[in-house]
Amino acid sequence: MEFTAIVDAKARHQAACAVVGVYEDGDPGKAALHIDKQMGGWIARLLKAGDFSAKLGESLLLPTPAGAAAARVLLIGLGGRAAFGRKPYRKALQSAAQALGKTAAADATVYLALEEVADLDAHYRARAVAEIFCAQLYKIPDLKTGAKPKAPRLTSVSVAMADARAMKSAAEGLRIGQAVGGGLALSRDLGNLPPNVCTPTYLGSRAQALAKEFSSIRTRVLDASGIKALKMGAFLAVTQGSHQPPRLIVCEYRGAKQGSAPVCLIGKGITFDTGGISLKDPPAMDEMKFDMCGAATVLGALRAVAELKLHINLVVIVAACENMPGGGAVKPADIVTSMSGQTVEILNTDAEGRLILCDALTYSRRFKPAAVIDVATLTGACVIALGNHFSGMMSNDEPLAEELLSAGVRADDRAWRLPIGEEYADQLKSNFADIANVGGREGGASTAASFLWKFAKDLPWAHLDIAGTAWLSGAQKSSTGRPLPLLVDFLVRRASGV
Ligand code: BES
Ligand code: MN
Ligand code: ZN
Repeated sequence: MEFTAIVDAKARHQAACAVVGVYEDGDPGKAALHIDKQMGGWIARLLKAGDFSAKLGESLLLPTPAGAAAARVLLIGLGGRAAFGRKPYRKALQSAAQALGKTAAADATVYLALEEVADLDAHYRARAVAEIFCAQLYKIPDLKTGAKPKAPRLTSVSVAMADARAMKSAAEGLRIGQAVGGGLALSRDLGNLPPNVCTPTYLGSRAQALAKEFSSIRTRVLDASGIKALKMGAFLAVTQGSHQPPRLIVCEYRGAKQGSAPVCLIGKGITFDTGGISLKDPPAMDEMKFDMCGAATVLGALRAVAELKLHINLVVIVAACENMPGGGAVKPADIVTSMSGQTVEILNTDAEGRLILCDALTYSRRFKPAAVIDVATLTGACVIALGNHFSGMMSNDEPLAEELLSAGVRADDRAWRLPIGEEYADQLKSNFADIANVGGREGGASTAASFLWKFAKDLPWAHLDIAGTAWLSGAQKSSTGRPLPLLVDFLVRRASGV
Protein backbone atom coordinates (compact mmCIF):
# COMPACT_ATOMS: atom_id res chain seq x y z
CA MET A 1 0.00 0.00 0.00
CA GLU A 2 1.26 3.40 -0.99
CA PHE A 3 0.37 6.49 1.06
CA THR A 4 0.78 10.07 -0.12
CA ALA A 5 -0.02 13.32 1.64
CA ILE A 6 -1.65 15.93 -0.60
CA VAL A 7 -3.10 19.42 -0.20
CA ASP A 8 -6.78 19.32 -1.10
CA ALA A 9 -9.06 21.18 1.28
CA LYS A 10 -11.89 21.36 -1.24
CA ALA A 11 -12.21 17.72 -2.31
CA ARG A 12 -11.09 18.27 -5.89
CA HIS A 13 -8.63 15.39 -6.13
CA GLN A 14 -9.53 12.73 -8.70
CA ALA A 15 -9.62 9.19 -7.36
CA ALA A 16 -11.63 5.99 -7.58
CA CYS A 17 -13.12 6.84 -4.20
CA ALA A 18 -13.33 9.85 -1.92
CA VAL A 19 -13.72 9.06 1.78
CA VAL A 20 -15.47 11.83 3.66
CA GLY A 21 -16.76 12.18 7.20
CA VAL A 22 -20.21 13.21 8.37
CA TYR A 23 -21.14 14.05 11.97
CA GLU A 24 -24.43 13.14 13.55
CA ASP A 25 -27.46 15.39 13.23
CA GLY A 26 -26.90 16.22 9.58
CA ASP A 27 -23.61 17.97 10.26
CA PRO A 28 -21.27 17.37 7.29
CA GLY A 29 -17.51 17.28 7.86
CA LYS A 30 -15.07 19.55 6.01
CA ALA A 31 -14.77 17.68 2.71
CA ALA A 32 -18.40 16.52 2.73
CA LEU A 33 -19.49 20.14 2.53
CA HIS A 34 -17.49 20.70 -0.66
CA ILE A 35 -18.48 17.44 -2.28
CA ASP A 36 -22.09 18.17 -1.44
CA LYS A 37 -21.79 21.46 -3.34
CA GLN A 38 -20.23 19.67 -6.31
CA MET A 39 -23.11 17.20 -6.24
CA GLY A 40 -25.86 19.80 -5.99
CA GLY A 41 -26.88 19.10 -2.41
CA TRP A 42 -27.30 15.33 -2.71
CA ILE A 43 -25.59 14.53 0.60
CA ALA A 44 -27.66 17.17 2.42
CA ARG A 45 -30.86 15.66 1.03
CA LEU A 46 -29.75 12.19 2.01
CA LEU A 47 -29.01 13.29 5.56
CA LYS A 48 -32.28 15.13 5.78
CA ALA A 49 -34.21 12.10 4.59
CA GLY A 50 -32.61 10.17 7.46
CA ASP A 51 -30.99 7.50 5.24
CA PHE A 52 -27.60 7.95 6.87
CA SER A 53 -27.52 8.57 10.59
CA ALA A 54 -23.73 9.19 10.73
CA LYS A 55 -23.36 7.07 13.86
CA LEU A 56 -19.71 6.45 14.60
CA GLY A 57 -18.38 3.79 12.23
CA GLU A 58 -21.41 3.67 9.96
CA SER A 59 -20.62 3.83 6.24
CA LEU A 60 -22.51 4.41 3.02
CA LEU A 61 -21.14 4.12 -0.50
CA LEU A 62 -22.47 6.51 -3.16
CA PRO A 63 -21.55 4.73 -6.40
CA THR A 64 -22.04 7.35 -9.09
CA PRO A 65 -21.79 10.76 -7.51
CA ALA A 66 -22.49 13.06 -10.47
CA GLY A 67 -20.46 16.26 -10.17
CA ALA A 68 -17.90 14.97 -7.68
CA ALA A 69 -14.24 14.66 -8.70
CA ALA A 70 -14.09 11.08 -7.46
CA ALA A 71 -15.77 8.08 -9.10
CA ARG A 72 -17.27 6.98 -5.76
CA VAL A 73 -17.98 8.75 -2.51
CA LEU A 74 -17.79 6.84 0.74
CA LEU A 75 -19.56 8.51 3.63
CA ILE A 76 -18.22 7.64 7.07
CA GLY A 77 -20.17 8.38 10.23
CA LEU A 78 -18.09 10.27 12.78
CA GLY A 79 -20.65 10.33 15.61
CA GLY A 80 -21.15 13.55 17.55
CA ARG A 81 -18.79 16.43 16.76
CA ALA A 82 -18.20 17.32 20.42
CA ALA A 83 -17.01 13.80 21.28
CA PHE A 84 -14.74 13.41 18.23
CA GLY A 85 -11.38 12.51 19.80
CA ARG A 86 -8.63 9.98 19.28
CA LYS A 87 -10.76 6.87 19.77
CA PRO A 88 -13.71 7.84 17.55
CA TYR A 89 -11.23 9.02 14.92
CA ARG A 90 -9.51 5.64 14.90
CA LYS A 91 -12.83 3.83 14.77
CA ALA A 92 -13.92 5.95 11.81
CA LEU A 93 -10.67 5.05 10.01
CA GLN A 94 -11.22 1.36 10.70
CA SER A 95 -14.66 1.39 9.18
CA ALA A 96 -13.39 3.44 6.23
CA ALA A 97 -10.68 0.86 5.54
CA GLN A 98 -13.16 -1.99 5.90
CA ALA A 99 -15.75 -0.41 3.61
CA LEU A 100 -13.11 0.54 1.02
CA GLY A 101 -11.84 -3.01 0.99
CA LYS A 102 -15.26 -4.17 -0.18
CA THR A 103 -15.27 -1.81 -3.18
CA ALA A 104 -13.34 -2.31 -6.41
CA ALA A 105 -11.55 1.03 -5.97
CA ALA A 106 -7.81 0.72 -6.52
CA ASP A 107 -7.05 4.17 -5.16
CA ALA A 108 -8.73 6.50 -2.73
CA THR A 109 -8.47 9.95 -1.27
CA VAL A 110 -9.09 9.99 2.47
CA TYR A 111 -10.44 13.32 3.73
CA LEU A 112 -10.94 12.26 7.34
CA ALA A 113 -7.59 13.71 8.48
CA LEU A 114 -8.92 17.17 7.60
CA GLU A 115 -11.21 17.01 10.59
CA GLU A 116 -10.20 18.44 13.91
CA VAL A 117 -9.50 15.67 16.39
CA ALA A 118 -8.98 16.50 20.06
CA ASP A 119 -5.28 16.07 20.99
CA LEU A 120 -4.20 14.88 17.54
CA ASP A 121 -2.07 17.06 15.27
CA ALA A 122 -1.68 16.55 11.51
CA HIS A 123 1.24 14.20 12.03
CA TYR A 124 -0.69 11.81 14.27
CA ARG A 125 -3.88 12.08 12.24
CA ALA A 126 -2.00 10.92 9.15
CA ARG A 127 0.02 8.34 11.04
CA ALA A 128 -3.21 6.72 12.20
CA VAL A 129 -4.48 6.50 8.61
CA ALA A 130 -1.46 4.50 7.47
CA GLU A 131 -1.30 2.34 10.57
CA ILE A 132 -5.00 1.48 10.56
CA PHE A 133 -5.26 0.89 6.81
CA CYS A 134 -2.25 -1.46 6.96
CA ALA A 135 -3.71 -3.24 10.00
CA GLN A 136 -7.07 -3.74 8.29
CA LEU A 137 -5.34 -5.38 5.35
CA TYR A 138 -3.57 -7.85 7.61
CA LYS A 139 -4.37 -11.49 6.86
CA ILE A 140 -3.47 -14.36 9.16
CA PRO A 141 -0.90 -16.66 7.47
CA ASP A 142 -3.33 -19.56 7.70
CA LEU A 143 -2.83 -23.05 6.35
CA LYS A 144 -6.35 -23.43 5.00
CA THR A 145 -6.35 -25.38 1.77
CA GLY A 146 -9.44 -23.81 0.18
CA ALA A 147 -9.36 -20.97 -2.32
CA LYS A 148 -7.61 -17.90 -0.91
CA PRO A 149 -9.70 -14.73 -0.73
CA LYS A 150 -8.82 -12.26 -3.46
CA ALA A 151 -6.15 -9.70 -2.64
CA PRO A 152 -7.74 -6.30 -1.98
CA ARG A 153 -7.77 -3.97 -4.97
CA LEU A 154 -6.81 -0.89 -2.98
CA THR A 155 -3.12 -0.10 -3.50
CA SER A 156 -2.81 3.65 -3.21
CA VAL A 157 -4.21 6.09 -0.65
CA SER A 158 -3.91 9.88 -0.77
CA VAL A 159 -4.44 11.68 2.51
CA ALA A 160 -5.80 15.18 2.04
CA MET A 161 -4.58 17.99 4.27
CA ALA A 162 -5.62 21.64 4.41
CA ASP A 163 -2.30 23.33 3.58
CA ALA A 164 1.34 22.72 2.72
CA ARG A 165 2.47 22.79 6.34
CA ALA A 166 -0.02 20.18 7.45
CA MET A 167 0.86 18.13 4.37
CA LYS A 168 4.52 18.11 5.37
CA SER A 169 3.87 16.77 8.85
CA ALA A 170 1.28 14.36 7.47
CA ALA A 171 3.87 12.95 5.05
CA GLU A 172 6.18 12.19 7.97
CA GLY A 173 3.27 10.71 9.92
CA LEU A 174 2.38 8.45 7.00
CA ARG A 175 5.96 7.23 6.76
CA ILE A 176 5.94 6.25 10.41
CA GLY A 177 2.44 4.77 10.27
CA GLN A 178 3.43 2.63 7.33
CA ALA A 179 6.58 1.40 9.07
CA VAL A 180 4.50 0.55 12.14
CA GLY A 181 2.13 -1.32 9.82
CA GLY A 182 5.02 -3.31 8.33
CA GLY A 183 6.44 -4.08 11.77
CA LEU A 184 3.02 -5.16 13.02
CA ALA A 185 2.56 -7.50 10.07
CA LEU A 186 5.88 -9.22 10.80
CA SER A 187 5.21 -9.45 14.49
CA ARG A 188 1.64 -10.70 14.05
CA ASP A 189 2.71 -13.29 11.48
CA LEU A 190 5.33 -14.72 13.83
CA GLY A 191 2.79 -14.85 16.65
CA ASN A 192 0.10 -16.51 14.55
CA LEU A 193 2.27 -19.24 13.01
CA PRO A 194 1.84 -22.65 14.62
CA PRO A 195 4.50 -23.64 17.15
CA ASN A 196 5.70 -26.55 15.03
CA VAL A 197 6.65 -24.00 12.36
CA CYS A 198 7.64 -21.04 14.51
CA THR A 199 10.39 -22.74 16.50
CA PRO A 200 13.45 -21.07 18.07
CA THR A 201 15.41 -22.03 14.94
CA TYR A 202 12.77 -20.41 12.75
CA LEU A 203 12.85 -17.18 14.78
CA GLY A 204 16.62 -17.14 14.33
CA SER A 205 16.29 -17.52 10.57
CA ARG A 206 13.73 -14.70 10.39
CA ALA A 207 16.12 -12.45 12.35
CA GLN A 208 18.86 -13.37 9.90
CA ALA A 209 16.52 -12.53 7.04
CA LEU A 210 16.11 -9.02 8.50
CA ALA A 211 19.86 -8.56 8.36
CA LYS A 212 19.82 -9.61 4.71
CA GLU A 213 17.07 -7.13 3.94
CA PHE A 214 18.58 -4.17 5.82
CA SER A 215 22.29 -3.42 5.65
CA SER A 216 21.90 -1.43 8.88
CA ILE A 217 21.17 -4.65 10.81
CA ARG A 218 23.71 -7.25 11.94
CA THR A 219 22.33 -10.49 13.34
CA ARG A 220 24.09 -13.16 15.34
CA VAL A 221 22.36 -16.36 16.37
CA LEU A 222 23.85 -18.45 19.15
CA ASP A 223 23.01 -22.14 19.58
CA ALA A 224 23.05 -24.25 22.74
CA SER A 225 26.84 -24.38 22.88
CA GLY A 226 27.09 -20.60 22.51
CA ILE A 227 24.51 -20.16 25.26
CA LYS A 228 26.43 -22.58 27.44
CA ALA A 229 29.65 -20.68 26.85
CA LEU A 230 27.90 -17.58 28.19
CA LYS A 231 26.98 -19.55 31.34
CA MET A 232 23.28 -18.81 30.96
CA GLY A 233 22.25 -21.49 33.44
CA ALA A 234 18.71 -20.17 33.93
CA PHE A 235 17.97 -20.04 30.19
CA LEU A 236 19.45 -23.52 29.71
CA ALA A 237 17.29 -24.94 32.49
CA VAL A 238 14.14 -23.95 30.63
CA THR A 239 15.20 -25.46 27.31
CA GLN A 240 16.60 -28.72 28.66
CA GLY A 241 13.32 -30.68 28.40
CA SER A 242 12.79 -29.84 24.74
CA HIS A 243 13.89 -31.55 21.55
CA GLN A 244 13.92 -28.17 19.81
CA PRO A 245 17.32 -26.50 20.13
CA PRO A 246 17.32 -23.06 21.79
CA ARG A 247 18.52 -19.84 20.20
CA LEU A 248 19.91 -16.60 21.55
CA ILE A 249 19.27 -14.03 18.86
CA VAL A 250 21.15 -10.73 18.86
CA CYS A 251 20.41 -8.06 16.27
CA GLU A 252 22.31 -4.79 16.21
CA TYR A 253 20.89 -1.85 14.31
CA ARG A 254 23.30 1.01 13.61
CA GLY A 255 21.57 4.35 12.99
CA ALA A 256 23.71 6.66 15.13
CA LYS A 257 27.43 7.08 15.65
CA GLN A 258 29.45 4.22 17.07
CA GLY A 259 29.81 5.49 20.62
CA SER A 260 26.19 6.40 21.13
CA ALA A 261 24.65 4.13 23.80
CA PRO A 262 21.98 1.87 22.32
CA VAL A 263 18.47 1.17 23.47
CA CYS A 264 18.19 -2.51 24.15
CA LEU A 265 14.95 -4.43 23.58
CA ILE A 266 14.68 -7.94 25.00
CA GLY A 267 11.93 -10.32 23.88
CA LYS A 268 10.59 -13.43 25.58
CA GLY A 269 10.63 -16.07 22.86
CA ILE A 270 9.01 -19.17 24.39
CA THR A 271 7.75 -20.73 21.17
CA PHE A 272 5.50 -23.00 23.23
CA ASP A 273 4.83 -22.98 26.95
CA THR A 274 3.42 -26.26 28.26
CA GLY A 275 4.42 -25.25 31.77
CA GLY A 276 7.06 -28.00 31.80
CA ILE A 277 6.86 -30.46 34.71
CA SER A 278 4.52 -27.96 36.39
CA LEU A 279 2.25 -28.75 33.47
CA LYS A 280 -0.53 -26.34 32.54
CA ASP A 281 -4.22 -27.28 32.41
CA PRO A 282 -5.46 -28.26 28.95
CA PRO A 283 -8.01 -25.46 28.37
CA ALA A 284 -6.61 -22.87 25.97
CA MET A 285 -3.13 -24.38 26.12
CA ASP A 286 -2.94 -23.84 22.36
CA GLU A 287 -2.73 -20.12 23.12
CA MET A 288 0.70 -20.72 24.62
CA LYS A 289 2.04 -20.62 21.05
CA PHE A 290 1.70 -16.86 21.61
CA ASP A 291 4.27 -17.03 24.40
CA MET A 292 6.87 -15.76 21.93
CA CYS A 293 4.96 -12.54 21.21
CA GLY A 294 7.49 -10.47 23.16
CA ALA A 295 10.15 -11.73 20.74
CA ALA A 296 7.87 -11.09 17.77
CA THR A 297 7.20 -7.54 18.92
CA VAL A 298 10.84 -6.57 19.37
CA LEU A 299 11.73 -8.05 15.96
CA GLY A 300 8.82 -6.15 14.40
CA ALA A 301 9.97 -2.95 16.12
CA LEU A 302 13.47 -3.54 14.76
CA ARG A 303 12.06 -3.86 11.26
CA ALA A 304 10.12 -0.59 11.65
CA VAL A 305 13.21 1.22 12.98
CA ALA A 306 15.33 -0.01 10.06
CA GLU A 307 12.63 0.92 7.58
CA LEU A 308 12.52 4.43 9.06
CA LYS A 309 16.33 4.66 9.23
CA LEU A 310 16.02 6.15 12.72
CA HIS A 311 19.09 7.94 14.05
CA ILE A 312 19.52 5.68 17.01
CA ASN A 313 21.43 2.56 17.94
CA LEU A 314 19.27 -0.38 18.83
CA VAL A 315 20.08 -3.86 20.10
CA VAL A 316 17.41 -6.54 20.01
CA ILE A 317 17.96 -9.66 22.10
CA VAL A 318 15.64 -12.64 21.87
CA ALA A 319 15.90 -15.65 24.13
CA ALA A 320 14.04 -18.39 22.30
CA CYS A 321 13.22 -21.93 23.40
CA GLU A 322 10.36 -24.26 24.24
CA ASN A 323 9.17 -25.08 27.75
CA MET A 324 8.46 -28.82 27.70
CA PRO A 325 8.11 -31.66 30.19
CA GLY A 326 10.17 -34.81 29.71
CA GLY A 327 12.78 -37.05 31.26
CA GLY A 328 15.43 -34.40 30.90
CA ALA A 329 13.30 -31.47 31.97
CA VAL A 330 14.10 -29.19 34.86
CA LYS A 331 12.16 -30.09 38.04
CA PRO A 332 10.64 -28.10 40.89
CA ALA A 333 13.40 -27.73 43.54
CA ASP A 334 16.24 -27.79 41.01
CA ILE A 335 18.75 -25.00 41.59
CA VAL A 336 20.58 -23.36 38.69
CA THR A 337 23.21 -20.67 38.41
CA SER A 338 22.22 -17.71 36.25
CA MET A 339 24.67 -15.79 34.05
CA SER A 340 24.81 -13.10 36.75
CA GLY A 341 26.12 -15.67 39.23
CA GLN A 342 22.94 -15.54 41.33
CA THR A 343 21.55 -18.99 42.08
CA VAL A 344 17.86 -19.62 41.43
CA GLU A 345 15.66 -22.27 43.01
CA ILE A 346 13.09 -23.28 40.40
CA LEU A 347 9.95 -23.97 42.42
CA ASN A 348 7.57 -23.86 39.47
CA THR A 349 8.77 -24.72 35.99
CA ASP A 350 5.87 -22.73 34.53
CA ALA A 351 7.49 -19.50 35.71
CA GLU A 352 10.00 -19.93 32.86
CA GLY A 353 9.83 -16.49 31.25
CA ARG A 354 11.72 -14.79 34.05
CA LEU A 355 14.40 -17.48 33.84
CA ILE A 356 15.25 -16.85 30.22
CA LEU A 357 14.86 -13.08 30.61
CA CYS A 358 17.16 -12.74 33.62
CA ASP A 359 20.03 -14.15 31.58
CA ALA A 360 19.16 -11.96 28.59
CA LEU A 361 19.16 -8.94 30.92
CA THR A 362 22.60 -9.82 32.21
CA TYR A 363 23.81 -10.32 28.64
CA SER A 364 22.53 -6.85 27.65
CA ARG A 365 25.08 -5.22 29.99
CA ARG A 366 27.86 -5.73 27.47
CA PHE A 367 26.23 -3.12 25.21
CA LYS A 368 26.29 -0.45 27.94
CA PRO A 369 22.72 0.43 27.02
CA ALA A 370 21.05 3.80 27.57
CA ALA A 371 17.88 1.87 28.40
CA VAL A 372 16.80 -1.77 28.49
CA ILE A 373 13.18 -2.75 27.92
CA ASP A 374 12.06 -6.33 28.12
CA VAL A 375 8.79 -7.36 26.52
CA ALA A 376 7.15 -10.55 27.71
CA THR A 377 3.91 -12.49 28.01
CA LEU A 378 5.01 -13.02 31.57
CA THR A 379 2.10 -13.55 33.94
CA GLY A 380 -1.55 -14.56 34.01
CA ALA A 381 -1.75 -12.27 37.05
CA CYS A 382 -1.20 -9.26 34.79
CA VAL A 383 -4.22 -10.30 32.72
CA ILE A 384 -6.27 -10.50 35.92
CA ALA A 385 -5.07 -7.04 36.96
CA LEU A 386 -5.39 -5.13 33.69
CA GLY A 387 -7.46 -7.26 31.35
CA ASN A 388 -6.76 -6.95 27.64
CA HIS A 389 -6.65 -3.18 27.54
CA PHE A 390 -3.37 -2.10 29.08
CA SER A 391 0.05 -3.70 29.05
CA GLY A 392 1.65 -3.81 32.49
CA MET A 393 4.74 -1.62 32.87
CA MET A 394 7.27 -1.78 35.68
CA SER A 395 10.47 0.24 35.87
CA ASN A 396 13.31 1.29 38.15
CA ASP A 397 13.78 4.55 36.22
CA GLU A 398 11.26 7.39 36.52
CA PRO A 399 12.02 9.26 33.27
CA LEU A 400 12.00 6.01 31.27
CA ALA A 401 8.68 5.01 32.84
CA GLU A 402 7.16 8.37 31.93
CA GLU A 403 8.49 8.17 28.38
CA LEU A 404 6.92 4.74 27.86
CA LEU A 405 3.56 5.68 29.34
CA SER A 406 3.26 8.78 27.17
CA ALA A 407 4.41 6.86 24.07
CA GLY A 408 1.54 4.47 24.78
CA VAL A 409 -0.94 7.34 24.93
CA ARG A 410 0.24 8.88 21.66
CA ALA A 411 0.33 5.54 19.86
CA ASP A 412 -3.00 4.47 21.33
CA ASP A 413 -1.28 1.38 22.68
CA ARG A 414 -1.46 2.02 26.36
CA ALA A 415 0.46 0.70 29.33
CA TRP A 416 -0.29 1.05 33.03
CA ARG A 417 2.41 1.21 35.65
CA LEU A 418 2.48 -1.45 38.34
CA PRO A 419 4.77 -1.57 41.38
CA ILE A 420 8.04 -3.45 41.96
CA GLY A 421 10.33 -3.43 44.98
CA GLU A 422 11.78 -5.19 48.00
CA GLU A 423 8.33 -6.01 49.39
CA TYR A 424 7.66 -8.19 46.35
CA ALA A 425 11.23 -9.46 46.12
CA ASP A 426 10.86 -10.67 49.72
CA GLN A 427 8.21 -13.08 48.49
CA LEU A 428 10.94 -14.69 46.38
CA LYS A 429 13.19 -15.68 49.31
CA SER A 430 14.52 -19.23 49.26
CA ASN A 431 16.16 -21.29 51.99
CA PHE A 432 18.32 -23.00 49.40
CA ALA A 433 19.36 -20.44 46.77
CA ASP A 434 19.78 -16.68 46.33
CA ILE A 435 16.27 -16.34 44.94
CA ALA A 436 13.25 -18.50 44.07
CA ASN A 437 11.48 -18.17 40.73
CA VAL A 438 7.97 -17.84 42.22
CA GLY A 439 6.56 -15.97 45.17
CA GLY A 440 2.96 -17.04 45.66
CA ARG A 441 -0.22 -15.94 43.95
CA GLU A 442 -0.53 -12.48 45.46
CA GLY A 443 0.77 -9.68 43.26
CA GLY A 444 2.00 -12.19 40.68
CA ALA A 445 2.79 -9.62 38.00
CA SER A 446 4.80 -7.55 40.45
CA THR A 447 6.72 -10.47 41.96
CA ALA A 448 7.67 -11.63 38.45
CA ALA A 449 8.87 -8.13 37.57
CA SER A 450 10.67 -7.83 40.88
CA PHE A 451 12.53 -11.04 40.09
CA LEU A 452 13.80 -9.35 36.91
CA TRP A 453 14.54 -6.17 38.84
CA LYS A 454 17.01 -8.15 40.96
CA PHE A 455 18.98 -8.78 37.75
CA ALA A 456 18.50 -5.35 36.15
CA LYS A 457 19.97 -3.67 39.27
CA ASP A 458 21.56 -0.39 38.15
CA LEU A 459 20.50 -0.66 34.48
CA PRO A 460 17.87 1.92 33.41
CA TRP A 461 15.27 -0.74 32.86
CA ALA A 462 11.59 -1.21 32.14
CA HIS A 463 9.49 -4.33 31.78
CA LEU A 464 6.35 -4.64 29.68
CA ASP A 465 4.07 -7.52 30.69
CA ILE A 466 1.98 -8.11 27.58
CA ALA A 467 0.22 -11.31 28.67
CA GLY A 468 -3.15 -9.59 28.28
CA THR A 469 -2.48 -7.47 25.21
CA ALA A 470 -0.36 -9.59 22.85
CA TRP A 471 -3.23 -11.60 21.42
CA LEU A 472 -7.01 -11.88 21.27
CA SER A 473 -8.87 -15.07 22.18
CA GLY A 474 -12.13 -16.62 21.04
CA ALA A 475 -13.50 -16.06 17.56
CA GLN A 476 -10.97 -13.26 16.99
CA LYS A 477 -8.02 -15.40 18.01
CA SER A 478 -4.96 -13.69 16.56
CA SER A 479 -1.86 -11.92 17.76
CA THR A 480 -2.17 -8.13 17.98
CA GLY A 481 1.45 -7.05 17.59
CA ARG A 482 1.11 -4.95 20.73
CA PRO A 483 3.02 -3.13 22.15
CA LEU A 484 4.87 -2.41 18.90
CA PRO A 485 3.15 0.95 18.30
CA LEU A 486 4.18 2.07 21.79
CA LEU A 487 7.78 0.94 21.28
CA VAL A 488 8.16 2.56 17.87
CA ASP A 489 6.71 5.83 19.17
CA PHE A 490 9.19 5.72 22.05
CA LEU A 491 12.12 5.02 19.68
CA VAL A 492 11.09 7.72 17.19
CA ARG A 493 11.10 10.24 20.06
CA ARG A 494 14.41 9.02 21.40
CA ALA A 495 15.95 9.24 17.94
CA SER A 496 14.74 12.79 17.44
CA GLY A 497 16.16 13.78 20.80
CA VAL A 498 12.95 15.23 22.28
N1 BES B 1 3.34 -17.57 29.59
C1 BES B 1 2.82 -17.65 30.91
C2 BES B 1 1.98 -16.44 31.27
C3 BES B 1 0.62 -16.37 30.68
C4 BES B 1 -0.40 -17.17 31.14
C5 BES B 1 0.35 -15.46 29.67
C6 BES B 1 -1.67 -17.06 30.60
C7 BES B 1 -0.93 -15.35 29.16
C8 BES B 1 -1.93 -16.16 29.61
C9 BES B 1 3.94 -17.75 31.93
O1 BES B 1 5.06 -18.46 31.52
C10 BES B 1 3.38 -18.46 33.10
O2 BES B 1 3.05 -19.60 32.97
N2 BES B 1 3.28 -17.79 34.23
C11 BES B 1 2.72 -18.35 35.40
C12 BES B 1 3.56 -17.93 36.57
C13 BES B 1 3.22 -18.63 37.85
C14 BES B 1 3.64 -20.09 37.75
C15 BES B 1 3.94 -17.96 38.98
C16 BES B 1 1.30 -17.84 35.54
O3 BES B 1 1.04 -16.67 35.26
O4 BES B 1 0.44 -18.64 35.89
MN1 MN C 1 4.87 -20.53 31.87
ZN1 ZN D 1 5.41 -18.47 29.52
